Amino acid sequence: MMGGVNIISMEKNMKNTISTLAATALLASTTSVSAADVEVLHWWTSGGEAASVNYLKEKLSGAGVGWTDFAVAGGGGENAMTVLKSRAISGNPPTAAQIKGPSIQEWGDLGFLADIDGVAQANDWDNLLPAVVSDVMKHNGKYVAAPVNVHRVNWMWSNPEVYAYAGATIPTTWDDFMVQAKKLQAAGFVALAHGGQPWQDATVFEAVVLGVGGADYYNKAFVDLDMDALDSATTLKVFETFGNLRQFVDANSPGRDWNVATSMVIEGKAGSQIMGDWAKGEFKVAGKSVGTDYVCTAAPGTSGAHTFNIDSFAFFAQSDAASTEAQNIMAAEILGTDFQTVFNLNKGSIPARLGVSRAEFDTCAHDSMDAFVSASASGSLVPSFAHGMAMSSAVGGAVTDSATNFFNSDQSAADGVAQLVASIKAAM
Ligand code: BGC
Repeated sequence: MMGGVNIISMEKNMKNTISTLAATALLASTTSVSAADVEVLHWWTSGGEAASVNYLKEKLSGAGVGWTDFAVAGGGGENAMTVLKSRAISGNPPTAAQIKGPSIQEWGDLGFLADIDGVAQANDWDNLLPAVVSDVMKHNGKYVAAPVNVHRVNWMWSNPEVYAYAGATIPTTWDDFMVQAKKLQAAGFVALAHGGQPWQDATVFEAVVLGVGGADYYNKAFVDLDMDALDSATTLKVFETFGNLRQFVDANSPGRDWNVATSMVIEGKAGSQIMGDWAKGEFKVAGKSVGTDYVCTAAPGTSGAHTFNIDSFAFFAQSDAASTEAQNIMAAEILGTDFQTVFNLNKGSIPARLGVSRAEFDTCAHDSMDAFVSASASGSLVPSFAHGMAMSSAVGGAVTDSATNFFNSDQSAADGVAQLVASIKAAM
């Protein structure tokens, strides 16, 4: 850990570097094209997400860099990735794109990404970032991406008034979830606010995997892709539990966006939503207070564990110097303490870098910060496969398809396991 003095001097260095870069960019931007603009692809279009991305825009504008928005709506980013591929293949990639986890390696292997190691070294990123974060940002040992946050995915967001009205208590195990959810239903509420989109099905599936099987099983089966762990009695139990949740989702869930599901909890129509902490951004935009209007608890059976999902921007190789400078300024701004604070207060996540004060963050963020550290020590810090942190995109797609096919059909748990195993084998 770093002492306060070091952090202050690092911040000063960073500011100096940023102003040098900004000055260079200004000098270089005398061509007719607005050379210091960045075009940024992302999928942050909900209320909380838009507030977050607007802050990045604002920071860059302060540093003299213009913003061309390339937003592709669709939670989880599947649509955005499809559009990005077609832009890149046609030789016209954006300056930066929201790319995460092992996909960064895939884009790097294809030769698309820019080396931003100069900015990273000048600002000491190796010491500012936990290794679990910095490892993902590098390709062949060089930084090609900058992390904006760490989301915790294994959360459950609940409306305490709904629970109280129904005489139910917020469950901490999946077995108890089934009991409490029945009470919510009997009182006329939707028990599980859910949007029937493949990535949301996978998000709930992932929480069940961790809650039922624990972190060791999670890692063996869904990170190492160990076939014995996958084709096991534990996976059968996972599918049985996941299948039991079908009854708690309302008939209007197919196609529903995740933030609309969050608003069902906000408005007291539903008891809980299983969703990453980007959901907190929606409670914030709605003016709700944690502890009274809503409660964040670990998804059933997962307290103490932390399923991480790191958002990052990967940078695409540029052909002119001014665009490269603008890109470098963006990279440096992203790691600043002010950006990491304000962005994450809006986004619901926690800073990706060390040395940011906890003071302004709420209890859910503190829980996430504490769980990140303790889970890392106890081996229960796991990468989110539903959010592209654990597997190649091909295997990740196979898991998502299996989860969604199962959840939206009357497939038996045994068939669910068989399909999962077969589709992972085919995608490997
Ligand atoms: C991203 C989040 C985003 C969420 C919903 C996740 O995959 O990591 O930043 O808020 O999808 O769109």
